[in-house]
Amino acid sequence: MCGIVAAAARREVSEILLEGLRRLEYRGYDSAGMALIDDEFDLKIHKRKGKVAELEKAQLKQPYHGNTGVAHTRWATHGEPSGVNAHPHISGLRVALVHNGIIENHAALRAELIEDGYEIASATDTEVIVHLLHRSLAIGGSLLQAMQKTVVKLEGAYALAAVDIENPDTVVGARTGSPLVVGVGIGENFLASDTMALRQVTDRFIYLEEADLVCITPDSLEVYNADGSKVQRQVERIKEGLETTDLGNFDHYMIKEIFEQPEALEATFGGAINAEKVENHFGDDAPALFDQVKQVQIVACGTSYHAGLVARYWLEEIAGVSCDVEVASEFRYRKRVQHKGTLLVVISQSGETADTLAALRNATADEFIGSLVVSNVDNSSLVRECDLVFLTRAGIEIGVASTKAFTTQLVALLMLTLVLGRRRGLPDSRQRDIIAALQSLPECVRETLELNESIQRLSEAFIPKRHALFLARGIQYPIAMEGALKLKEISYIHAEAYPAGELKHGPLALVDSDMPVVAVAPNDELLEKLKSNLEEVRSRGGELFVFADTEAGFANEARVKILPVPNCPEVIRPIVYTVALQLLSYHVALQKGTDVDKPRNLAKSVTVE
Ligand code: F6R
Repeated sequence: MCGIVAAAARREVSEILLEGLRRLEYRGYDSAGMALIDDEFDLKIHKRKGKVAELEKAQLKQPYHGNTGVAHTRWATHGEPSGVNAHPHISGLRVALVHNGIIENHAALRAELIEDGYEIASATDTEVIVHLLHRSLAIGGSLLQAMQKTVVKLEGAYALAAVDIENPDTVVGARTGSPLVVGVGIGENFLASDTMALRQVTDRFIYLEEADLVCITPDSLEVYNADGSKVQRQVERIKEGLETTDLGNFDHYMIKEIFEQPEALEATFGGAINAEKVENHFGDDAPALFDQVKQVQIVACGTSYHAGLVARYWLEEIAGVSCDVEVASEFRYRKRVQHKGTLLVVISQSGETADTLAALRNATADEFIGSLVVSNVDNSSLVRECDLVFLTRAGIEIGVASTKAFTTQLVALLMLTLVLGRRRGLPDSRQRDIIAALQSLPECVRETLELNESIQRLSEAFIPKRHALFLARGIQYPIAMEGALKLKEISYIHAEAYPAGELKHGPLALVDSDMPVVAVAPNDELLEKLKSNLEEVRSRGGELFVFADTEAGFANEARVKILPVPNCPEVIRPIVYTVALQLLSYHVALQKGTDVDKPRNLAKSVTVE
């Protein structure tokens, strides 16, 4: 989703801004722009539709320089991707502004500004903000005061950064509902939508709080809260080494991240040898809260929602804890009835997903005994706002399609199952089995990764296809959903997952020789039922691609291709089968020539509703 980088320095910042944008590319975007205040106190602006590389070309052709500037990658919401709609937006050739988020009352503000004589050049909701700033500056006062007066008129979510040629060494920022960090330097300060953008210039960051405003110059940094009072926010140092963005020998981040899973899963599990040690991962306050848990409500979006669906099977079957799972965009707007003793669990790799954050924020103490977040990003909004935190140790995930962040979420949720199960009399032997299974997981995943070439060969059959069905039963059903989501996200093949038992209630009508059907078929108690469903597909001419372990008793035959997945303990099979399906979608996308790491229309961190 949109990305912001801004700088106030004693040195030239165009390359810092461009490098920041390159580092934000993983978030997903469709246009980019940069505004600098040059030596003659003029605003110099490049904006381009498409990739940051296009902006770089523009800068090469017509270099602009300055010590103060703002830059942006835009993911279109209001108005198509285009040069005109790209940020920064300007007003009166004086102020330039970039924005992440959505301004809900933009239409009313637009009408008001037009009445005041402002011409609105773009179709964006953002442009009104820069004119409001300009109108306020024209009356008098500093850029900070103008920003203070502007934000009170805005309804919606925003992270903002603005420059003004009359205050040439200053950048002012504000945030409500969208993240913004301050990068603290020596003789220079920065703003960005996440720390990644600024790791080349600093390792010290301030995470702005809701409704904060900030004013930076090369030598000063002031933060104000919503009341306009100056406040101190803690500067945090980010540890080196956790974030590598080097592709190494891989062609794409997605395949690199798929192959990083053994280490990521191991790091997330942390080598715990018993359930008490597992509990330490949830923090000091966890035991008191876990003691009260009678039910669990999971809320998440997309891939993280699928992790929640898997967890429901584990929590109910292993821990005996009743569990509901809902997508955040529905949960947040629904009138709900929660039962006493419910723990709210939010799952979000980015920790910034707008709907999940809103769901957390509108959950009340009457409804829930407390909240737990499973996230991959320390200091993200959800991490800061939840009572308990489980940080997955996937390392930075750049590919937009989530892979290692998802499987590490599953490890975290199995660990949650273990600690809650222990409280409800889960036998010691079962606890030991689960721990042993988690210990064996990295090796099982390594063995699954060895299937890479066989899966690549299998994937060729999908290239001419426009649709695909994924079938499974039980706990593998959400894994089939995740497999279908991955395939559609990066290869643009329409894919749907069904619980195999639902086949004859509708989707069977779609099955013909043109419809590849992927089955997730480990040898479990539902296997025979699944086999019957697959026969129904075969007898209608469907082509089957069966991901099954050797004990499942499948054999290659006409229109049935078997992908043998390593045998592994039943409880971790959802994770192992996920890896095989990730490889399938990667190879299909690769051969279709799509932009695997940055699929069209998608964003890594979905900070708007
Ligand atoms: C798909 C994917 C998305 C995210 C969803 C929620 O590969 O990554 O479906 O899972 O946008 O994001 P988080 O987990 O950051 O809340």
